[in-house]
Amino acid sequence: MPVPSNRFWEQWLVAHRAKPEACVTFSLSPSPSLKEYIDELDPGMSLDWSSEDYQGARGLRRQVLDRYGYRPVCDVDDVLITAGAQEANYLALTQLLRSGDELVIDAPGWQQPIVLAEQIGATVKYVPRIEARGWALDLDRLEALVTPKTKVVFICNPNNPTGRVEDEQTLRAVIGIAERVGAHVVSDEVYRGLEWEGPPTPRVATMYERGVSTGSVSKLLGLQGLRTGWMVTRDRKLIADAMVLRENTSEIMNIMGERIAEIALRSDRFAAAVERSRLIGHARIERLDRFVADQPALSWHRPVAGLLGLAYLDRPITAEAFAQRLLAPPYNTFVMAGDAYACPRHLRLGAGGVSHEELELGLSRMAQLLAS
Ligand SMILES: Cc1ncc(COP(=O)(O)O)c(C=O)c1O
Repeated sequence: MPVPSNRFWEQWLVAHRAKPEACVTFSLSPSPSLKEYIDELDPGMSLDWSSEDYQGARGLRRQVLDRYGYRPVCDVDDVLITAGAQEANYLALTQLLRSGDELVIDAPGWQQPIVLAEQIGATVKYVPRIEARGWALDLDRLEALVTPKTKVVFICNPNNPTGRVEDEQTLRAVIGIAERVGAHVVSDEVYRGLEWEGPPTPRVATMYERGVSTGSVSKLLGLQGLRTGWMVTRDRKLIADAMVLRENTSEIMNIMGERIAEIALRSDRFAAAVERSRLIGHARIERLDRFVADQPALSWHRPVAGLLGLAYLDRPITAEAFAQRLLAPPYNTFVMAGDAYACPRHLRLGAGGVSHEELELGLSRMAQLLAS
């Protein structure tokens, strides 16, 4: 069956083509340019892939384990390098789900698994995140939803779009529920490292044998264009199955992405880049929080991690209609409406991916429309 379209993608495509003057909905830390890596790249490097590794460059896999703290529980054979967290999710979900199986997923949360499950013919069951409790996962509901047909429990942690982080105790509870029926827990940890309060996000691959952590260099390091990420799991069969699927889709990784990511993840460079992303990201989240506080029509739970938050729009207009007006002249500003996440009264506010000036421009235009 063809992959179904969805409100997330449709809004994205329309806005991208509209070439807005400002965006207040993006999630990336500032992106470095190639210049920062060029001195350490070897111009004589062969672009022939044949002596590379199907699982991804071994040195890069080691860096992922070290920089993101998957050691000592996981080792180098537990990492598969992928084209971003998105490919890691795709490979894991496609190989774990069959028609008639159940996927249990946090809502609001990342929409990709829902699209894939629909295409596969699996049933999607939603575990609500409760806004009044800061978007906490409803664990009682999770318990009730999981059945022997459940093959995957998927959570986005830190959560896109709410910025909520589930702590270790909650993740243990999620694992306990999944383990009773032998289900995998796939945790999209792509925003890990951008926590603004509380302890770092727990890593599911280190906590559960059927735990799958996905991540990438896209968000924390702003290196989205490299298309380089990973899946970490102690389930070696899943790694092998994922490689079979990849062999039949994009086949292999791109060498340039792996090489540059390997440089970016060297310990000294990584520490400096993380410090910069965190400094800028924190100031941006403060700015968004002040903006929301100043707007009587908006309210939110300030994101605990990442550069996104979900704001309630208290106006007699849907978020979709508001976003359409904002994208049109004279505002020319993109904000994603929450119907991409089945939250039609919310806006996805994002502090990333644009310059300080562009963010300010977008916020002032949004304030104008809210005041009109
Ligand atoms: C939760 C989540 N997962 C995955 C992705 C895709 O990230 P990547 O660039 O690593 O494929 C995104 C991008 O917005 C995301 O928000």
